[in-house]
Amino acid sequence: MMAAQQILLAVSTVAVILIGRWIIQTIQWNRKYKLPPTVPGVPIFGNTFQIPALQQGPWAKELAEKYGEMFTCKFGGNTWVFLNSSRVVTDLMERRAAIYNSRPEFPMTQGIMSRDSRIVLMPYNEQWRTVRKIMHQILSARALDVFMPFQDLESKNLCWDYLETPDRWWSANGRYANSVIMSVVFGRRSSLDDPHVVELFETLELFLENQQPGVNIVDAFPVLDKIIPKFLQWWRPRGDRIYEKTAHVYRREVDMLENKIKNGTAKRCFGTDFLKTDEVKKMSEVQKLFVFGTLMEAGSDTSRVTIGQIIAGAVTSPDWVARARAELDKVCGYNAERLPQFEDRPNLSYISAVVKEGFRWRPNIAEIGAPTMLIKDDEYEGYKFPAGTVFTWNAWAIALSPKEYEEPERFWPERFLNGEEESALKGHWGFGPGRRVCVGWKVGEMNVWIAIARLLYCFDFTAVPGKPIDTMTIPQITNNSAPFAVKVTPRSAKHAALVRRDCEAAAKTQY
Ligand code: HEM
Ligand SMILES: *[C@@H]1O[C@H](CO)[C@@H](O)[C@H](O)[C@H]1NC(C)=O
Ligand SMILES: *[C@@H]1O[C@H](CO)[C@@H](O)[C@H](O)[C@H]1NC(C)=O
Ligand SMILES: *[C@@H]1O[C@H](CO)[C@@H](O)[C@H](O)[C@H]1NC(C)=O
Ligand SMILES: *[C@@H]1O[C@H](CO)[C@@H](O)[C@H](O)[C@H]1NC(C)=O
Repeated sequence: MMAAQQILLAVSTVAVILIGRWIIQTIQWNRKYKLPPTVPGVPIFGNTFQIPALQQGPWAKELAEKYGEMFTCKFGGNTWVFLNSSRVVTDLMERRAAIYNSRPEFPMTQGIMSRDSRIVLMPYNEQWRTVRKIMHQILSARALDVFMPFQDLESKNLCWDYLETPDRWWSANGRYANSVIMSVVFGRRSSLDDPHVVELFETLELFLENQQPGVNIVDAFPVLDKIIPKFLQWWRPRGDRIYEKTAHVYRREVDMLENKIKNGTAKRCFGTDFLKTDEVKKMSEVQKLFVFGTLMEAGSDTSRVTIGQIIAGAVTSPDWVARARAELDKVCGYNAERLPQFEDRPNLSYISAVVKEGFRWRPNIAEIGAPTMLIKDDEYEGYKFPAGTVFTWNAWAIALSPKEYEEPERFWPERFLNGEEESALKGHWGFGPGRRVCVGWKVGEMNVWIAIARLLYCFDFTAVPGKPIDTMTIPQITNNSAPFAVKVTPRSAKHAALVRRDCEAAAKTQY
């Protein structure tokens, strides 16, 4: 009896102390920090169960309408501040990039699935700087000379595929974007429905699915990774399997290239140069694989999706297509005289505006942006943010806000005819802000530009009867099938003849 009472007393004393400490800490925290309005959630898990697993853009936009320019969500142990205007994104994620653009911990998607080697999830550290520098070298300075001939050839192949197999237009987009990067990085092309490309997109989708907040409990509570012993971490075997599959897909390409180097059949490319550098010799085997793998993945899906978005825009609001064609016809002829080419860019600023509008219109590559982490306590307009707070640009809400854009829902390239058509990063957040801005933006923009110029010149895009496109809910993850239906037909017999004449050789070229 006595013993039970003593235990009870001890337990309640401990409880009182813990609660007291929690209250004191909360008071101290509240004195020291102040966050924007918090979206109510449940204890411990916060808003984890409210956020949809996919298509979070409309969800976060609704919250923006209710809570204003900045609001706070809790995903497990992580505090996220959503930035809902270009003004605050610029002030914090761009002007203060030195402290705002690190990354939070992702024990599942970065730790287990990527063995800490995926650049897009690396925090600010030496490893990130090294990998980013390598990618920057290949993707920016040399982009024009190195990428242009491949983009020219592959976009001809794209037109050929649209003519010959119009039902496979989505696979053709994927092949196109992938083949450009494969040519530059591995010195080889990819074919339509290439099983390697199909598998590459599968691994990418596995990553994207798992990266959504709320999907992996350990990414919401990174502390679990430290307090639960590895053999009890029930998520780990699944993460390991995804890692094995991913590494296998990457390794297959790298092995093939290394074999070709050994047997003397390798075509000179980024990979042959890179494998000789000191950087690569200092790098772990896994890191090497992920440099190659990220180039393939990030370089393929984004262009495939953006070309798709512009096609959806062409089907659902054809008025601008007529204006784009007026410009194309003036430059390339009213009777399908020749294909548009990069040299025409100065005369085709409407096309550049179309491409920018394609990045803005329905930002479904990163609907709620990409989370970055603040590494030092900071103050802004009366708020005090603790180090460790996660920030993101609320991409969908900003792109579709009437405060940012006139008639935001309309696909309206004219909004970008302002003398800055050639500044691909200005006026939208499609490539992200600050120091984490997409390192491949120039290549990506050029991919989309030449493809769209040629496709709009040569083909009509119309809705399939009974299958209208709902542009607000185009799915992001489709396992290699088209995310919406579209009927592709040549503009005229002459345009079909032009494609046959100018594109067949590109489709038959092999290396
Ligand atoms: C069509 C176009 C593309 C779009 C819309 C796009 C979009 C993005 C976005 C939104 C981010 C995240 C930015 C952030 O976290 O703030 C990103 C990062 C990145 N992108 Fe792209 N991208 C495109 C093309 C490419 C291409 C062609 C490559 C490479 C071949 C590439 C490689 C990367 C890499 C490596 C990162 C991570 C950078 C870092 O974390 O430091 N992207 N991209
Ligand atoms: C060289 O290696 C590549 C990749 O493994 C292989 O496809 C090719 O057939 C090889 N060529 C010769 C001549 O051995
Ligand atoms: C294209 O622009 C250049 C100047 O930038 C001009 O000389 C040329 O005539 C234009 N061509 C067409 C077809 O409009
Ligand atoms: C936040 O986003 C919503 C939705 O796009 C918009 O209507 C609202 O005006 C934005 N608020 C601010 C303060 O920018
Ligand atoms: C994707 O599609 C392929 C073939 O159509 C199928 O084998 C695979 O299981 C699918 N993957 C998922 C995750 O649905």
